[in-house]
Amino acid sequence: MLEKFSNWISKNEQERKVEDVTIENVPKHVAIIMDGNGRWAKKRGLPRIAGHREGMSVINKIVKQANSLGIEVLTLYAFSTENWKRPKNEVDFLMRLPERYLSVELPKLIEENVKVRLMGSKDSLPAHTIAAVDNAIEKTKQNTGLVLNFALNYGSRDEIVLAVQNIAKEVSAGKLTADEINDTLVDQYLMTNELRDPDLLIRTSGEIRLSNFMLWQLAYTEFWFTDVLWPDFTEQHFLEAINVYQQRTRRYGGI
Ligand code: IPE
Ligand code: IPE
Ligand code: MG
Repeated sequence: MLEKFSNWISKNEQERKVEDVTIENVPKHVAIIMDGNGRWAKKRGLPRIAGHREGMSVINKIVKQANSLGIEVLTLYAFSTENWKRPKNEVDFLMRLPERYLSVELPKLIEENVKVRLMGSKDSLPAHTIAAVDNAIEKTKQNTGLVLNFALNYGSRDEIVLAVQNIAKEVSAGKLTADEINDTLVDQYLMTNELRDPDLLIRTSGEIRLSNFMLWQLAYTEFWFTDVLWPDFTEQHFLEAINVYQQRTRRYGGI
């Protein structure tokens, strides 16, 4: 599928469609709540961490595909501020995943012009996790292709609280007046600051909720939910989501 699409981009510029996905209207920012790893493992009688390991290999495929489709930003919800409630062995495993993923994939990300980015609080992350991600950010900072934005120890309410605190500090320091606070300014204080809002949100595993993800930024995003568990998610599902997105009419409150 991916090969087919890439071939098409390079060789058949005059064609307008592949598998019903049109090149002009590809969402610029796609955000994914990668859910269902635990249930995937449970169904197979495996420990939950086996599901996380399998889920990691899916990230690879989707990053590549997003890059070749010309998507500008791919935000992946990898660990929420609420996920600390999980058993210690699972949390420890999840905190090792970024370095596992990057130790294999970073050279390819560099080569493929992907720029790694982080959104979330570094405060309670283990040093080894921060080191792996910081290294990837540093090594890819000049890249100009897909922005791969990992939401790690991310929670939307924390993000908004932090933004409000920082704005309040600016006001009390006399650098800002209350009247100058508008939605553009709030945007700049969020962890997404320079990123555009997601055009498409995907959540796998059949849960129809946001689980504290990008509450501000998703105001006019198109949602696509699927029962497919994240480790079973394929390039074909991704194209299906994009295809559905392309058939939606975004009105932003207009007519
Ligand atoms: C998503 O899969 C990964 C993380 C939240 C880190 P889950 O681990 O939530 O899997 P389920 O929802 O229990 O199946
Ligand atoms: C959301 O999934 C967080 C991530 C995918 C990282 P959860 O599995 O934590 O969400 P809930 O608990 O089902 O709402
Ligand atoms: Mg879950």
